[in-house]
Amino acid sequence: VVELSLRPSTLRQYIGQDKVKENLKIFIQAAKMRNEPLDHVLLYGPPGLGKTTLAAIIANEMEVQFRSTSGPAIDRAGDLAAILTSLEAGDVLFIDEIHRLPRSVEEVLYSAMEDFFIDIVIGTGPSARSVRIDLPPFTLVGATTRAGLLSAPLRDRFGVLSRLEYYETKDLCAIVERTAEIFETKISLEAAVEIARRSRGTPRIANRLLRRIRDISQVKGENEISIETTKTALNMLQVDEAGLDHIDHKLLKGIIDGFKGGPVGLDTIAATIGEESQTIEDVYEPYLLQIGFIQRTPRGRVVTHKAYNHFGVKVNEVE
Ligand code: ADE
Repeated sequence: VVELSLRPSTLRQYIGQDKVKENLKIFIQAAKMRNEPLDHVLLYGPPGLGKTTLAAIIANEMEVQFRSTSGPAIDRAGDLAAILTSLEAGDVLFIDEIHRLPRSVEEVLYSAMEDFFIDIVIGTGPSARSVRIDLPPFTLVGATTRAGLLSAPLRDRFGVLSRLEYYETKDLCAIVERTAEIFETKISLEAAVEIARRSRGTPRIANRLLRRIRDISQVKGENEISIETTKTALNMLQVDEAGLDHIDHKLLKGIIDGFKGGPVGLDTIAATIGEESQTIEDVYEPYLLQIGFIQRTPRGRVVTHKAYNHFGVKVNEVE
């Protein structure tokens, strides 16, 4: 319940992602002026940056119902048909992990998105026939970690493509302060900045760390979360100075110790450290690329000097 109320419900309350917000604000306003549903929106970017939250905000700002499902949850075309035919005019249908829709289901979306109808096949064999069902005009909001994971025909049917970026420290700090206020917990500015700095640019991580640090601060009997407690707690939680956790470490150290810093292929690293390739690619690697700790080359991943410095290892000591 708290988790839900943490989510901002309007664009005004939503902190950061200024470019995306600015665009959406205009498109929403224009659609409302014309009394039309908003064009279909594709939100893409690493996990934890607020794609689901934004989708719910779009519905709220458009003053329509928010319906939510996910790619892996829809097995058959009939499942999607059932959802689409139950929509009301203008509704927002959110499909998380839209790149994981089965191909046969995805094809139903094409006509639904473009012309608001679906063709469904009734019966089998010689007596099978196709029936056209008209749909109410609706807005599809799709979310995916990378736009490139979508097939071109699906991607082309979105009128608005919005890429979410990692948050700046100042925005994460404002989010931490907002969440603390909702928790009715006092936090020093220094502590809020420290959490923001060490949250890998990700609100979901910042809020999770805040919860744990608040527990520790409360047990210590503090009346305000202090910087000292924050630093101790972050060490306890195995979050380092750069905000990297033990899996980031395993990944970087795996490449440094096992492959002399690379280049090494993604699947090879994944097998070595016992994590899924997909998880590394979608969750861990994007942030390490962003902060310049790894680079992608045609021959695989390479750990940079910057990362070596972070671990206090001289490059020629390892070679
Ligand atoms: N909580 C999580 N993400 C947020 C955001 N972008 N703005 C406000 N509160 C949030």
